Amino acid sequence: MKKSVLIFQIFVFAIFFSCVSQNSTDQKEKADIYYNLGNAYSELKQYNKAVEAYANAWSLDSELTAAGYNLIRVYIYLKKYDEAEQLLKELLGRDERNLLLLETAGYLAHNRGDYDEALRYYSNIVASFSSFVLKGMAKLDGLEIQCIAPSHGLLWRSGVQRIMSLYKRFAGYNTGGGCEKEICIIWGSMYGYTKQGLDAVIKGLETEGMPYTMHHIPDTDVSYILGNAYKAAGLVLAMPTYEYKMFPPMAYVLDLFERKHITDKTVLRLGSWGWSGGAQKEYEQKIEKLKWENIEPYEWCGTLTEADVTALTERGVELARSIKNQSVSNV
Ligand SMILES: Cc1cc2nc3c(=O)[nH]c(=O)nc-3n(C[C@H](O)[C@H](O)[C@H](O)COP(=O)(O)O)c2cc1C
Repeated sequence: MKKSVLIFQIFVFAIFFSCVSQNSTDQKEKADIYYNLGNAYSELKQYNKAVEAYANAWSLDSELTAAGYNLIRVYIYLKKYDEAEQLLKELLGRDERNLLLLETAGYLAHNRGDYDEALRYYSNIVASFSSFVLKGMAKLDGLEIQCIAPSHGLLWRSGVQRIMSLYKRFAGYNTGGGCEKEICIIWGSMYGYTKQGLDAVIKGLETEGMPYTMHHIPDTDVSYILGNAYKAAGLVLAMPTYEYKMFPPMAYVLDLFERKHITDKTVLRLGSWGWSGGAQKEYEQKIEKLKWENIEPYEWCGTLTEADVTALTERGVELARSIKNQSVSNV
């Protein structure tokens, strides 16, 4: 049977039921009809009509979770992410371990795909102005905002509530609101010795179950590093000495950190040197303005000894614990 004919029949059936069976058909049966109608429209990719049908089914019978679930999927197809998220929360509130719903949450996040890019944009462009962001948002409190159209920057026609709550969170990262309890590792190594030291630190982080992201320089564009560094409560900076100073790509990263106000971090710096050292001295000068808490740095000559490995693993544990114990948290 042709799909359009099928829809027509279901629709006629629905009208018939709603007219003649006020008494004989209960709410649940009507909800089933709307649910089937929603499925038929979905099949035909007529998602706006499917939304209407599923929403009717859902309002008639909120026990009909299949209608709620399908409504979420259709919202996602239509990029109505706020609506999808709201309904998903409601359903997960009833059944927080429902695999289908959890999978849908993942699907929603994947489709939205905006978090990383929003964070990257914020950390690269807006982070220096976080206090103004917070003041501006406070002024807008209570208004129903449908579109964000700044004179400079991205235009948001959908997901307005979500992006506003993300910006509030992001603005807190360098204004005392607390960062995410995770660590951003940035590392560069010419011969691999500093990398070996970093591996020992990572062992310590992992012992404490501390999540981390890892960025190799100079291979990674700093605009990507900035997002993860900006949100993380902790940093690990691993680089050797190079001509009495630090490995140059790290100097570039730190230069940007100062410009972008990547403040409020707990940091471990480590690295290998060959004959005189010098990276640590330049590092200290460069981070002067950044208000960072520093775990005692660790440097060594050339390759690692057993004692270095042990000390570096302990530094990893110490950093992880210090992040865990931070009382201010955005989470
Ligand atoms: C171009 C270059 C410049 C270096 N400059 C210095 C220096 O000024 N002082 C120093 O102690 N070691 C210097 N070193 C040695 C490295 O810091 C040392 O070999 C270190 O162990 C390298 O660590 P890595 O294996 O992580 O690259 C230099 C090495 C290179 C290749």
